[in-house]
Amino acid sequence: INKGNGVNGLSQMGLKSLPKQYIQPLEERMSMNITTMPEESIPIIDMSNWEDPKVAESICNAAEKWGFFQILNHGVPIQVLDHVKDATHKFFELPAEEKSKFLKENSPSNNVRFGTSFSPDSEKALEWKDYLSLFYVCEDEASTLWPTVCKDEVLEYMKRTEILVKRLLEILMKRLNVKDIDKTKEALLMGSKRINLNYYPVCPDPELTVGVGRHSDVSTLTILLQDYIGGLYVRAGTNEDSWVHVPPLKGSLVINIGDALQIMSNGRYKSIEHRVVANASKTRISVPIFVNPRPSDVIGPLPEVLGIGGEKAMYKQVVYSDYVKHFFRKAHDGKSTIDFAK
Ligand code: SIN
Ligand code: FE2
Repeated sequence: INKGNGVNGLSQMGLKSLPKQYIQPLEERMSMNITTMPEESIPIIDMSNWEDPKVAESICNAAEKWGFFQILNHGVPIQVLDHVKDATHKFFELPAEEKSKFLKENSPSNNVRFGTSFSPDSEKALEWKDYLSLFYVCEDEASTLWPTVCKDEVLEYMKRTEILVKRLLEILMKRLNVKDIDKTKEALLMGSKRINLNYYPVCPDPELTVGVGRHSDVSTLTILLQDYIGGLYVRAGTNEDSWVHVPPLKGSLVINIGDALQIMSNGRYKSIEHRVVANASKTRISVPIFVNPRPSDVIGPLPEVLGIGGEKAMYKQVVYSDYVKHFFRKAHDGKSTIDFAK
């Protein structure tokens, strides 16, 4: 494989069949024949009246029951979303030699990384995906180190989602009895951010592989922008084969709860398994912003939550960077990362 061109390079060769390294074991493939789709879909919440207690209630209910919801009228202009999607295409359409400059071995910084699959060294089979991952430190660093074709658009998207993130966390915290998000809490909930540009090229045999395997995010919250192609599925209920599609919706953002918030809420909010199916005829992109604790933060069930009814802590205290390392050390394998905090 020419690493500098990732899966996209393979896709552009016009392969008739899927290369062996991408063939997933049966249990990891998403068989549309046996998958059941529940009647109910993940909630779609209009945030134009975000101060209305009814809106807050739907958000908290969705976070408890589904761990996933879509929001509309969230305050981030559609133009900003369109620009970041265009910029994502521009980056991945760069010649291989340009993208190679951001491979782990060449990148000017650990905070900027172009790669393929998820954890190639520990995976039995590779995932059909290329990505650019950007750890945000400050605007100055971003302007000098991030790829020129997309940095302005990505920065603008990050800036414009800032208030939204605060609103969502305020709403979610209120139900947990955290009424005031002071500076320390704010750092714990959203003290660091990572943004990924994901690229899922046309795949010769989507049934045999995955775009992204089953996992839950390790974030506090993830703000996900997807295009109009579709392919993201969320586990619905406890049935092994029950998955619900997250339908593309014009102008929407998908919000999902990550493990860090499941831990901090002592299991009240759920970080739910999800996966992405590859597509036989179209290239798909998505752009998640991972809102995280700072790497050095120690996370555990919040005292306010345990205070509610003398609740027993379901998770222990862990250093967030250890938690994240544990996640990246293994292939995507469902929700096993959280056992690290048990
Ligand atoms: C992911 O959850 O890793 C990707 C989500 C998406 O591409 O929709
Ligand atoms: Fe994810």
